[in-house]
Amino acid sequence: MSRTASAIPVASRISGFVYAIRNIVAEARKVEASGRKVRYLNIGDPISFGFRTPPHMVQAVERAMRDGFNGYAPSVGILAAREAVAAECAGRGMPMTPDRVVITSGTSEGIELALTALAGPGDDVLIPVPTYPLYTAVLAKIGARAVFYRTDPSRGWQPDIEHLRSLISPATRALVVIDPNNPTGATYSGEARSALVDLADRHNIPLLADEVYADLAFDGPVPAIAALNPDAPVITFSSLSKAYLAPGWRMGWLAVAAPPRLDDVLAGIKKLADGRLCSNAPMEHALVAALTGDRSHQQAFRGALRERAALTSTRFNAIDGITCVPPTAAFYAMPKVQLPAGTTDEDYVLGLLRATGVLCVYGSGFATAPEDGFFRVVFLASPAELDEIYGLIGDFTGEFLSARTR
Ligand SMILES: Cc1ncc(COP(=O)(O)O)c(C=O)c1O
Repeated sequence: MSRTASAIPVASRISGFVYAIRNIVAEARKVEASGRKVRYLNIGDPISFGFRTPPHMVQAVERAMRDGFNGYAPSVGILAAREAVAAECAGRGMPMTPDRVVITSGTSEGIELALTALAGPGDDVLIPVPTYPLYTAVLAKIGARAVFYRTDPSRGWQPDIEHLRSLISPATRALVVIDPNNPTGATYSGEARSALVDLADRHNIPLLADEVYADLAFDGPVPAIAALNPDAPVITFSSLSKAYLAPGWRMGWLAVAAPPRLDDVLAGIKKLADGRLCSNAPMEHALVAALTGDRSHQQAFRGALRERAALTSTRFNAIDGITCVPPTAAFYAMPKVQLPAGTTDEDYVLGLLRATGVLCVYGSGFATAPEDGFFRVVFLASPAELDEIYGLIGDFTGEFLSARTR
């Protein structure tokens, strides 16, 4: 390369594409390089904590590959997979036909396809705060604006419906609902769910229902939000990543309710799906095996999560300066540390990482205010390891707070 050549710039949209859950790993690597063991509580991957993909799903992928299903699949996915998803939706109370299902590379691709089909520059999308950060990242990429509605920790992280209602405008193109929720571990009340779906219906705003944790509510599977109002314009998203313990397979789906209101949107999504040819073809066969086969692993998984959730909220609430809403689903908790003036959630989380090797994600990575002191913990490690980790967090918090309030 010529010595005078300058660095080649990236497109300006890259600066808005932020995904803290992975971005923060660069800091952890530095701590590891200094010789300290890092405990990665940043990413919601059950496999990296010893949970195992059900064997019948693995066998289905092996069989599909041996049987020669290694070519491109239809861009919307094989019929058997779409039939299985349609039956799954119907079982959750959301009437569905296979022609309104698209098989995707994880929930993530479904989210990106739907947002791209719905919104562009000048458009608004209503997003919960705290949020799963892919939503804001994709909106930055497509040039649409994230408009945040509050969810309230003092009411178990339920959505603030009045606040949400006040944000609806002619520019609103979609409403994102994540229930059960990452990062808060909340499940929404029946009242909140009805209010959300009715708002979408009345204002003719597509409700993007991220239901990837629907099977991981501790009290048992949550029905589809679309079941509460079959006329409402709802697109549901889910995958094999969480409740079927196969996140690396990148296998998910979306399903579009409310014909004919959402027919143009469905056609737009399918057009975009054509451009990426198809999702992972052999894994589509495993999707059929997963949705039509044995689910007993889910009950065991929910039990393990319930135990860890209780340990998590009990231990955090016993730490001076920290409060934590007890999670009711998934494997996340969002504790709050009472930060001294002038410090941020990032100061606290990076301080914790450097002092103890424990890696969490600061709340501002999920769009909470940096001074509010929220941080997210993934509680998939064993109860014994979590116990040790929460001890380290307690000790560090005591030192962090006293050093800065002295
Ligand atoms: C709320 C939420 N939506 C979507 C995803 C992406 O999941 P997938 O692996 O299905 O793309 C995640 C992953 O953590 C998530 O927590």
